[in-house]
Amino acid sequence: MIEYPEVVGLIDSGWNEEHGYCVRGGFKGGMYKAREPNSQMIANELYGAINANRDFFRPWLPWVDSIKSPADEMPIVESLADRTTCKYYLRLNGWLTGMVGVVREDKKTGTMEIGYWHDPRYNGYGVMIWAVGKAEMLCFLYGGAKKVEIRCATENKAARRIPERLGYRQEGILPAAKKMPSGVVHDIVVYSKTLSNWLERPTGLQNVNWYWKDLPWPKTYIDQWEKYYKLKKEMAKGKQK
Ligand SMILES: CC(C)(COP(=O)(O)OP(=O)(O)OC[C@H]1O[C@@H](n2cnc3c(N)ncnc32)[C@H](O)[C@@H]1OP(=O)(O)O)[C@@H](O)C(=O)NCCC(=O)NCCS
Repeated sequence: MIEYPEVVGLIDSGWNEEHGYCVRGGFKGGMYKAREPNSQMIANELYGAINANRDFFRPWLPWVDSIKSPADEMPIVESLADRTTCKYYLRLNGWLTGMVGVVREDKKTGTMEIGYWHDPRYNGYGVMIWAVGKAEMLCFLYGGAKKVEIRCATENKAARRIPERLGYRQEGILPAAKKMPSGVVHDIVVYSKTLSNWLERPTGLQNVNWYWKDLPWPKTYIDQWEKYYKLKKEMAKGKQK
């Protein structure tokens, strides 16, 4: 059975030479699943982060105005507590600042789409590039994804930078594909990364060589590297496409 890790700690905050991104700002925290499916505290915090930034999110997130109280966040809290779904909230220096995770899954083709939002007070530090890189690794290693997709409005420059920085391929642009509650209709750009692309350049796998040189590695990192090598072997033998 799929079981995503409960916590993905933000420890690789130096320049990541290999994957070409860097988390700035000296934050402590990471990506977390909720411990309980009915956590009122997390519902309140999610609501607070969205409510304080409605004007910022409204052009890009069609659901923003349907969140009218913390109670409307309860289904999200439930999915955050579900270890079989790849959904995480972000916490930086104690504050809940955003969310990242799978928003759509096609089990037949093994395609998972990753979505994200991040409190603008914490934008521009590279945290979401880091988080999407981790989410992608979790989809391939734990979720069995064959392809990860990211879809953004063509005008959404900040959102597009993320798949571009993470080496996604632009598959195409869907003209007039998404109507927002305001009536604005966006063209949608589709980015993707296949399992074989990812195995060549495994973004999100903890680069432990320099940081943990003489330390015992946490078990999740060992698990992740083992899963990675297993997949690579299967791919070489032609068991994976
Ligand atoms: C898109 C979003 C998640 C980016 O969050 P973030 O914390 O700034 O992400 P990062 O710091 O990792 O930065 C991502 C890239 O976008 C750039 N960026 C951030 N804000 C930007 C802005 N307002 N304009 C242009 N570029 C911007 C960053 O500089 C970075 O690129 P760089 O490293 O090459 O400079 C956030 O702005 C957001 O929640 N937007 C609204 C919701 C949304 O659009 N979600 C995505 C739907 S597909």
